[in-house]
Amino acid sequence: MMNRRELIQWAGGALTFGSQPLGAQGGLLLEKTIPGTTESIPVIGIGTNRYVVGDSSANSQLAQTLQMFHRLGGRLIDTAPMYRSSETVLGNLIDDLELQGQFFLATKSDADRDKGGRERVENSFTQLRTNTIDLMQIHNLRGLDMLPQLRELQAIDRIRYLGITTSRTQQFPDFLQVMQVEKLDFIQVNYSLADRQAAERILPLAQDKGLAVLVNIPLGRGQLFRKVQGRPLPGWAADFGARSWAQFFLKYVISHPAVTCAIPGMRKLSHVEDNLGAATGQLPTSAQRARQESWFDSLI
Ligand SMILES: NC(=O)c1ccc[n+]([C@@H]2O[C@H](COP(=O)([O-])OP(=O)(O)OC[C@H]3O[C@@H](n4cnc5c(N)ncnc54)[C@H](OP(=O)(O)O)[C@@H]3O)[C@@H](O)[C@H]2O)c1
Repeated sequence: MMNRRELIQWAGGALTFGSQPLGAQGGLLLEKTIPGTTESIPVIGIGTNRYVVGDSSANSQLAQTLQMFHRLGGRLIDTAPMYRSSETVLGNLIDDLELQGQFFLATKSDADRDKGGRERVENSFTQLRTNTIDLMQIHNLRGLDMLPQLRELQAIDRIRYLGITTSRTQQFPDFLQVMQVEKLDFIQVNYSLADRQAAERILPLAQDKGLAVLVNIPLGRGQLFRKVQGRPLPGWAADFGARSWAQFFLKYVISHPAVTCAIPGMRKLSHVEDNLGAATGQLPTSAQRARQESWFDSLI
């Protein structure tokens, strides 16, 4: 088991510990630095692709979830205009909870310039009720011709970082090519214990090029839990501080040296408490990660 100093060294200095908030199980949340900057973000964010307008009890559940995420030290929120009302719901919740300015807001752009791309981006500022979007990502490489306009918004600090996303392995060759030719700050990609292809070329290239990495679908859309249903956590999971299956899966993702932050989708309060626990304590070493892989692959 590595201590904090060894852990930071192993992660190439990119890993720090948040100085303010207390993590889910009482420890400081682990943070990683955005390459090329002095800014760091907690290694667990929140995905909100199912934050949609519902009845009042559904809305109050989302409010409690977001409030808990903030209370435990969570900062990065990933949303998109294509997630139905997610941006609007978040804009309202953040205002209602009086948490403006407390989050790192990541959203997406997916429309070509001549198909209303600029208006769609402007709409994101309105829905999220913010003057600054921390990260604007081209969604699934759709509407890449918006990049020059997005760079103009970056030059006047309305957008702080620019990135691209994918969640489809078939798109990896095109994704790699865009990573090679465009100047970007972030990428977002699918990666989990059950879906490791990004580690072959995308994550190493992100490291080479100094790009921050967000990981989507880190829990296989919930399918990973089905695979381990009825099984106890292996005893050695405690060696890197995993107290639940979610922490076992998320610690695997965030311990990859190229990964900056995983963004599990979370609508339930208990899931936020559980998942932010993955951002506390130890992370698996490379040997422990290899053990997680072979153990997972041996499951039928
Ligand atoms: N191309 C793209 O840009 C792209 C594509 C896909 C996803 N994304 C982003 O990535 C985010 C994450 O992806 P995802 O939500 O599809 O998949 P995911 O994070 O792998 O899985 C989310 C599912 O796991 C459940 N869950 C979360 N924590 C849990 C826990 N501790 N125990 C048991 N179940 C738990 C969630 O339940 P509850 O919701 O009920 O809490 C939800 O059903 C999205 O929200 C979105 O922001 C981006």
